[in-house]
Amino acid sequence: MLILSFGFFWVTIRLSTCSDPIGIPDGHALDGRSDITMDDLDLIKQKINIVDLISEYLPLKKSGVNYKAPCPFHAEKSPSFVVSPERGIFHCFGCNVGGDIFKFLMLKDSMEFVDALDILAKRAGVTLSRKPSKDKDKKSKLFDANQKASQYFHYILTEHKLGEPALAYLKKRGLTDKTIKEFNLGYAPNSWDSLFKFMSKRGFTTSDLIDAGLAVASKSGGYDRFRGRVMFPLLDVKGQIIAFSGRILGVGEPKYINTPQTIIFDKGNCLYGLNLSKGEIRQTNAAILTEGEMDTIMSYQAGVKNVVASKGTALTAGQIDLIKKYTDTILLCFDSDSAGDAASRRGIEMADFAGLNIKVIKIPEGKDPAELSLKNVDLWKKAVEEAEPIYDYYLQSVAGRFNRNTAEGRKRIASEIAPLWAKISDNVTREFYIQKLSALIAIPEDIVRREVAKAGSSYAPTFENIIKQDGGGKEAFRSRRGRLEEYLMNLLLKIPADLTFVPNFPETLFTLEAYRSLYVLLVLYLDAVSFKGSAFNISDFVKTLPEELIPIVDGLYLTEIDDKLTNSKAWLNEINVVVAGLKKALVKASLEKLSDDIKNAESFGKIEQLQALTKRFRDLSLKLKNL
Ligand code: GTP
Ligand code: MN
Repeated sequence: MLILSFGFFWVTIRLSTCSDPIGIPDGHALDGRSDITMDDLDLIKQKINIVDLISEYLPLKKSGVNYKAPCPFHAEKSPSFVVSPERGIFHCFGCNVGGDIFKFLMLKDSMEFVDALDILAKRAGVTLSRKPSKDKDKKSKLFDANQKASQYFHYILTEHKLGEPALAYLKKRGLTDKTIKEFNLGYAPNSWDSLFKFMSKRGFTTSDLIDAGLAVASKSGGYDRFRGRVMFPLLDVKGQIIAFSGRILGVGEPKYINTPQTIIFDKGNCLYGLNLSKGEIRQTNAAILTEGEMDTIMSYQAGVKNVVASKGTALTAGQIDLIKKYTDTILLCFDSDSAGDAASRRGIEMADFAGLNIKVIKIPEGKDPAELSLKNVDLWKKAVEEAEPIYDYYLQSVAGRFNRNTAEGRKRIASEIAPLWAKISDNVTREFYIQKLSALIAIPEDIVRREVAKAGSSYAPTFENIIKQDGGGKEAFRSRRGRLEEYLMNLLLKIPADLTFVPNFPETLFTLEAYRSLYVLLVLYLDAVSFKGSAFNISDFVKTLPEELIPIVDGLYLTEIDDKLTNSKAWLNEINVVVAGLKKALVKASLEKLSDDIKNAESFGKIEQLQALTKRFRDLSLKLKNL
């Protein structure tokens, strides 16, 4: 579990393979893989009333539908420890601990999960269907399995008779022995169980192979997933094999199959070839992003080594983060107008938002980097050198498709480009391209600028545009505050799927009563899901709500948020900014009130009061400065 301090929050990011926040071993029952079943846990929770359990330790008092007490885990006077009998969970708004009955015992009596489980199972009269195992290292087992399997595939390809047709195929496509070795390519024989048998003899169980994605589960156990395919191991930057893709020999469907998601492989978080090319990417300060394994391999073989492959998908946030570790410039390969399709656009916006320079390598229609690298490497090198900024590429693309001499054509160009320009995050860059667009369609900059602003404002709210929307004055301030609260609530309901997030700012940040209640319930709920290691699920959450709050959630949920906020980093950052904004607004409101009070005290000559008020004013001003 990776715990990051992110401004006001402790954020736990659940890497797909990580153990639970409370130290449950990887591969444990709670990730639904083995040992204790979720049913056992749920059954125990159903049978034990959390209020009864915690009452044995603390004086719980009823407070609305929940119960409250001073927190047992930190010193406090007014109770901020809340227990929800309905949800079977507790949470402290003071020290931000929380969880279910198991977690409570673990914390209160400092015991391990397994022991808490034992005690509570007995108390509930539940016989566990299986004993929890202490197998901590499922992940390294899977890495080992992949490593062994790759040796097997490579051996078959390079030394075994069964691999001959595959070797011939690769040679025909122009791969050298050196490349085959460097990329550790292999061949999976066309058999249902050859890998299976090989691995079994080396101590890997059926479930290891299934969990690694090397085998597919079947009634009789499992069979080899990859059959009759050239094998491309996919390595992480540490050089561990996390997955494979397998290409059919010649033509056929599906052309490629990949390892499915496993506890060590998350498709959106890796780039093929990066383990080999990262040095070169750093040196040249640019990463060429191709679509396919073969493109990457062939370019690398031809000496253009700063290359990776996204494996046929549009750029993801995880891949952008990976690239950013080595360079700030990404060179995309497009053969036709694929830059314009929605999926690529989304990736491009995210990359722009992440601060990457995005350029486009233009390659002749119908060619791909693999082919160019093999047949005309100079052309490939030239194309890479001449990569141009994505925004110029967009301009060229529209210039080629529409007639700039008609009003119709100019209008179309503007309406296609304006939304793209509206999403350029850097102000100088955006202004530069507004000028270029203006020149292209021979329309004054002001008009173009307005079109771009209009296209931007039709997007979902962001902190920035809420703040910008209206000027000073108390009314504006109040409505802006309301909109910020609404926006914060809206964001909280759209937690990115890869985040395990429990906010811990005080509920008093919301001035609107409904949001306050909603927020408290949301925190309780998030605590529970983060404990289970499962993702936030809005429909499940809604089921826990009193009826009067449901329409509010529905309304908020249907309000869009900006696309780029599906990236967990961007989302967290936005949450941070909004919370800081709201905190500031609260302090500012108090300062305004204080300054009125001070004026009053002055005019009535109340010296003592005045001193106290000015001190408070100074303290608050300082606090505001430090926010
Ligand atoms: P070659 O034909 O061997 O040169 O591969 P390619 O890279 O030119 O393939 P293509 O352009 O068709 O696809 C680009 C990438 O998308 C591939 O390298 C694969 O990673 C992925 N891909 C292609 N076909 C499939 C498929 O059928 N299934 C899956 N899962 N991925 C595919
Ligand atoms: Mn190809």
